[in-house]
Amino acid sequence: MAAGIDDIAIYVPRLFVDARDFAKARGMDPDKLQRGLGVSQMAIVDTNQDPACMAANACLRLIERNKLSPKDIGRLYVATESSLDESKAMNSYVIGMLEQIYGDDSLEHCGGIECKFACVSGSYALYDNSNWIRAGESEGKYAIVVVSDIAKYDLGSSGEYTQGAGAVAMLLNDAPRIMTFDPKVTSTSIKNEYDFYRPFGKETPIVNGQYSNLLYMIQVKKALMAYREKALSTGLIKLQEGETILDYIDFINMHLPYSNMGKKALAYLLRHEWRSMPYWKKIIEKMGMVEPAPKDPRGTIESILADEEFMAKDHEFTKRFTQTEEFQDVYDAKLASSLIASRIVGNLYTASLYMGFRSCLEFEFQKGTDLEGKRFGFGSYGSGSSAMVFSGVIMPTYKEVVKDMNLESEIGDRVKISLEKYEEIHENKRGPNENLIDSKKEFVLVGVANTSEIRGQRTYVFKE
Ligand code: COA
Repeated sequence: MAAGIDDIAIYVPRLFVDARDFAKARGMDPDKLQRGLGVSQMAIVDTNQDPACMAANACLRLIERNKLSPKDIGRLYVATESSLDESKAMNSYVIGMLEQIYGDDSLEHCGGIECKFACVSGSYALYDNSNWIRAGESEGKYAIVVVSDIAKYDLGSSGEYTQGAGAVAMLLNDAPRIMTFDPKVTSTSIKNEYDFYRPFGKETPIVNGQYSNLLYMIQVKKALMAYREKALSTGLIKLQEGETILDYIDFINMHLPYSNMGKKALAYLLRHEWRSMPYWKKIIEKMGMVEPAPKDPRGTIESILADEEFMAKDHEFTKRFTQTEEFQDVYDAKLASSLIASRIVGNLYTASLYMGFRSCLEFEFQKGTDLEGKRFGFGSYGSGSSAMVFSGVIMPTYKEVVKDMNLESEIGDRVKISLEKYEEIHENKRGPNENLIDSKKEFVLVGVANTSEIRGQRTYVFKE
């Protein structure tokens, strides 16, 4: 049985910080954010918003748009790394909010859990729920997978300019209108690492950004190699002499902690794939530089990052490579559209990859590209660390859904906030009811109990 994505709804908070204001306040060159990282605006949650209400708002849009009744939904999973409780799962809050609209117990048979593995958990949730459908366990019902996060780093840290917030809700079924997942090719890689983690009770992560960037690319490459084996052995892809697996992936969606990370990761993967191809020699000649190798090619990530001479040369090599026509062609055709949303919403952790997918669908549709039958490849990464590579094929019916996608109108009227206000929210100096803007037709957080017997209990209401 087939399984895939039938529809996608998003929720992005309307408050945002402008990269130019941010750079000015931190004494940085705005070009570093806008050109260096691809960050123009970062979505920021208001005081009465949290990952659970963003998830519920995305779900509500999905349910309303598809005129679903609660009994049509068999599963609701939330993948997040912005957990609200050590025990109570985020989908339970979401069910509670949705039942305010659909009635008590209306979703009582809609099972699910909260999934955690940094930014990759949404991909595991999609895979597991697709398998629930493929196994025939869904009995015609839909599964909803929601990815929702607030990317929050310490004030003044190098992660602070890769923040953002938002949720993406995906509707899965056995006759999807948008994309059917390719069966038996989903591949993973996993290793115990500390590139980015958030110990209990800490609101912001401990992160080694450069280490994490390199580990991300290595892990995705390993998962891609495993994908390649499966794609060849199942016969999904048949390679001719001089072809690489990426030749058979029409659009590439990468995990995007910031927009330019997609470009960096694409360059890394193409270098890996093209190195053994006859045309690589020609590309190298045009670049006028030999591909550098670290002093200790079998060294650790630490030893590679500490090899300053290699890192400088490799940086220059990557820069020249990304300027070649060969790279640019692949970048423009397969990746660029997926990076647009990230520039204006920022880092969404688990939701970044799927906001990128949505971005690609919307902006390729606007360009008039015919996506029917095209294969999308996904490079998902979560610190700690694990990568997942999988793919899917776009269905003839995709236009019915994609024609109505409009990032700007779905976010709504955005409100730029000053750095002063942003810092007040960041440092939790305002209570839930001291929100900066009014909400309409959405769930908001109105209180978190702090008396000992009910400490931590959260109350949400739907604002008409
Ligand atoms: N104008 C234009 N570009 C500039 C610039 C300027 N004035 N100054 C720097 N840049 C470019 C750099 O060349 C670099 O681009 P490159 O990677 O293509 O070479 C980019 O801006 C970033 O600068 P750099 O100094 O290398 O990085 P940083 O110390 O500011 O850290 C991150 C960047 C991404 C590592 C950091 O923001 C971070 O840790 N973010 C969190 C990421 C994360 O969450 N990872 C975990 C999961 S994936």
